[in-house]
Amino acid sequence: MFKTKSVNYKECKSVSDNGEYPELALKAALDPVTFSVFRRHHNYTRILEHVSRKEGEQYLNIIRREYKMKDDEIFQILKPLMKVGNPKLLRLKGLSNKISTTGLRYLKIALDIKKITGRNIGNVVEIGCGYGGQAIILDQLIKIESYTFYDLWQVNLLIKRFIEDSNFSTTYTISTIKEDSFKCRNSWDFCISNYAFSELPKAIQEIYINKILNKTKKGFMLMNSGVSGKFGKIKNHSQKELLNILRNASIYNEIPLTHINNYLLTWGGDN
Ligand SMILES: C[S@@+](CC[C@H](N)C(=O)[O-])C[C@H]1O[C@@H](n2cnc3c(N)ncnc32)[C@H](O)[C@@H]1O
Repeated sequence: MFKTKSVNYKECKSVSDNGEYPELALKAALDPVTFSVFRRHHNYTRILEHVSRKEGEQYLNIIRREYKMKDDEIFQILKPLMKVGNPKLLRLKGLSNKISTTGLRYLKIALDIKKITGRNIGNVVEIGCGYGGQAIILDQLIKIESYTFYDLWQVNLLIKRFIEDSNFSTTYTISTIKEDSFKCRNSWDFCISNYAFSELPKAIQEIYINKILNKTKKGFMLMNSGVSGKFGKIKNHSQKELLNILRNASIYNEIPLTHINNYLLTWGGDN
C-alpha cells in the first residue's frame, strides 16, 4: 500500500533545524562544560536568548505596572533562569541587580497565559521549547497537571538536562513529532508555541495542526510569520488560513511588538 500523502522531513526543515544550532544543543546536553555556557554561544543566541535591553525594559514595565509584581518576587521567580548556561544578564533602569531579559519575556508571557487560564492550566503541550525556560516559569505561577514538550531530538536532550537540573515540579514527556508518543497522551488542555510553530514550513505545520493543535482545547502562539505566512524564505500558513483552520481563533497585537507584523494567535474556549 502506498501512503497517499507523505512529508519529506529532510527537505522540510525550520530555520533553526540548520545543523549548527541543534548540534550545539546536543553538545550542551552531553558535555558539562558546554552546558555551563551554552546560553552565550553565538550558534545559540542566533536562535534564542537574544531579548534586547529595550524589550527587557518593556517586559519589566508590564510585569510591574499591569501585573503589580514587586522586584523581589520577580527575582525570586526568575532565579532558575539566572545562572544555568551562563546567560547574559543586563542592568535595567530602576533594578538593583542585573537580570535575564529572556527570563523577563518568559515571565510576562506566563502572566498573560495565567490571565487566560486562571490558576489551573491542566495538561499543557508546548511546540518548540528552547531549553524549557517558558515551562519552568509557568510551573512556578500556575498549577500544571502534565507538560509535553515537542522539539528537535537534539534540543529535547538539552531540555531534559535543563529541566532535570531545575526544580520543575510537573510530570513531563519530551518527544519529536515523528515519535510514537501519542499512546502516552493525544489531547491537551492548553497548547503553547512562541516564535516556534510560526518558523516551521507549511507541511510540518500541517502535521502539528492535525496531531496537536486540533487536539487541544485552547492555544496561545506568538507568531513571527507575518500576515502572509512567511518566516525568512520559509513559506507557511497565513493568518487567514489559521483563522479558518483553528476553532474560535483570534488575532491580537504582540505586546510589546518585537518585530513588524508579529502577532498573538489564540484559539479555543469561548472567545
Ligand atoms: C526561536 S526558538 C523559540 C523557543 C521558545 N519557544 C522561546 O520562546 O524562547 C524556536 C524553537 O523551535 C524549535 N524547533 C525547530 N524546528 C522544530 C520542529 N520541527 N519541531 C518542533 N520544534 C522545532 C527550535 O529547536 C527552538 O526550540
